[in-house]
Formats: sequence, structure tokens, C-alpha cells
Amino acid sequence: MSDIICPVCKQSLNKDGNCYRCESRHCFDIAKEGYVNLLAGNHKAGESIGDNRDMALSRKKFLEKGYFSPLADKIAELVISHGKSTPTVCDICCGEGWYSNEIIKKIPCNMLCFDLSKEMVRLGAKRKNGATFFVANLASIPLADKSVDVGFHLFAPFHDKEFSRIIKDDGIIVTAVAGENHLFEIKEILYDTPYKNDEAPPETELLTLVEKIKVTKKIHLESAEDIDALFRMTPYYYRTAEKDKQKLLGYEELDVTVDFAIFVYGKQRKA
Ligand SMILES: C[S@@+](CC[C@H](N)C(=O)[O-])C[C@H]1O[C@@H](n2cnc3c(N)ncnc32)[C@H](O)[C@@H]1O
Ligand SMILES: [Zn+2]
Repeated sequence: MSDIICPVCKQSLNKDGNCYRCESRHCFDIAKEGYVNLLAGNHKAGESIGDNRDMALSRKKFLEKGYFSPLADKIAELVISHGKSTPTVCDICCGEGWYSNEIIKKIPCNMLCFDLSKEMVRLGAKRKNGATFFVANLASIPLADKSVDVGFHLFAPFHDKEFSRIIKDDGIIVTAVAGENHLFEIKEILYDTPYKNDEAPPETELLTLVEKIKVTKKIHLESAEDIDALFRMTPYYYRTAEKDKQKLLGYEELDVTVDFAIFVYGKQRKA
């Protein structure tokens, strides 16, 4: 039985030729790239939700250069140390799927990846790396209760109710947020008074924080294109005035700190 459930009736969804089908015969076509759109209700079209094609391509190009490999390596390490053979792993809000691809290279697993953005999911599915990609909203994840060993969730909105529902009793959720010094050198160029990130763990009453891990490294951005791509991946890009954005234009290379705070959560134990 599949871990994926029908977004309409919540029964198990299984591959049936070119679609996924449940017992009540709700049917979801598999796109030519291999992903399936499981957005229910008003979101069905999925075309204009989430990041667009340019954002998705720019993110893919940047991540494939390996600047964020220390973070991917740490997530893979956590999956391996969770200790399950062929674990079910979910890349929650997977973006274009670079991180899950890095993990698949290191550990055989049943990798399930989803994102609200069809463009992101399409790019991820195109890698044909054995992961299952679907378009879905994290507020209603089409996965069965207690089906996931490790859910990882990087730089995206948090939803503790759904996260605690989909993980097994001994499962974990691994979340990463920007650490306090993340890209501080870029902020120093852009702003008169640069602030550090507050690095707080996402708040939850349903999951228990079991570990905090820091991954920090200096990277050398090799081109103006990479500097621009990284800046566009940050929330500050959308908050920075046009005149301040210009300040980055003269840089052809840059040494910057990448600083990630990883929080590992388990299921809350009942007293
Ligand atoms: C900053 S990106 C991070 C993507 C990926 N985790 C990575 O680190 O490369 C945030 C992602 O969250 C997705 N997202 C935002 N809201 C979502 C939701 N309600 N359900 C599913 N995905 C969502 C966006 O489409 C986007 O791909
Ligand atoms: Zn159904």
C-alpha cells in the first residue's frame, strides 16, 4: 500500500498506469515529467501558486554549484543516524529538489517530495532520481498518518499539526532556518545597520525539540551571477529598496558566511 493518500477521500492512492487512483476511483494524472498534482479544491490548477519558473530555475542553478553542500550533508547524516534501513523520507516544501537528490545519493530510501509550486516540483521530477514528486499544500499533506521516518523541511512555513500527523511514533522532523550570521557580509553591503537573524526554532506545542545543530561555513561566491542568485533566494531580496539592491551590482566575487540552524523535533511524548 502506498503512503500517498487521496486528497479527496483520504484513502490510499496507488499508481495505475499513467495516473494515481484510490478505491473510490478518484484519479490524478501523472505528468510527463513524472510528478502528480494532488492539490485539492480551489488550488487544483496549481499554475500560479508558489515560486514561478524563473525563481525555480535560478534556485536550481545556484544549488547545483554545491555552495550549500554542508547543509545537505548534515541532513543526510541525520537521516542515516536515524537508523532505519530504506527509510521513508519526506522533503517537505522541497523546492526544486536539490537537497533530496543529494540525500538519495548517500542512502537508499523511499523519498517523497512535495511543494506548492508546480514549477519547482516539475524541475525536481525531471531529475528522474527515483523520488516521488507531487504538488501539495503543507496545510493538508496527502500522506498517511504515521508514514514518514524522517521529514525534512528547509526554509519554508512550518505546520506542526500536519508534521506530527505524518511522522511515525519514532519519526523526526528536521527543520532548518537561517542562522544568526547567515549572509551577514551581504547585509553589510546593503544596509547601514545590518541585523543578525534571530535564529529562533519554529514554535510548536505538538512536537518536542530534541536537538539544535549549527552548520556554519565561509563560502566564496565566484561570480556576480551567483551573488545575485543567492540574494534572490533570500527573504531580504523582497524587502530591500531598489536603490539598496544596486549596491551589490559592482561585486564580481564575494566571501560570505553561510550559517544554518537545524532543529530536530520528535513526537511529543504523552505523560
Ligand atoms: C525558500 S523555498 C525553500 C525550498 C527548498 N526547501 C530549498 O531549501 O531549496 C520555500 C518553498 O516553500 C514552498 N511553499 C510555500 N508555502 C507552501 C505551502 N503552503 N505548501 C507547500 N509548499 C509551500 C514554496 O513554493 C518554496 O518552494
Ligand atoms: Zn479518493
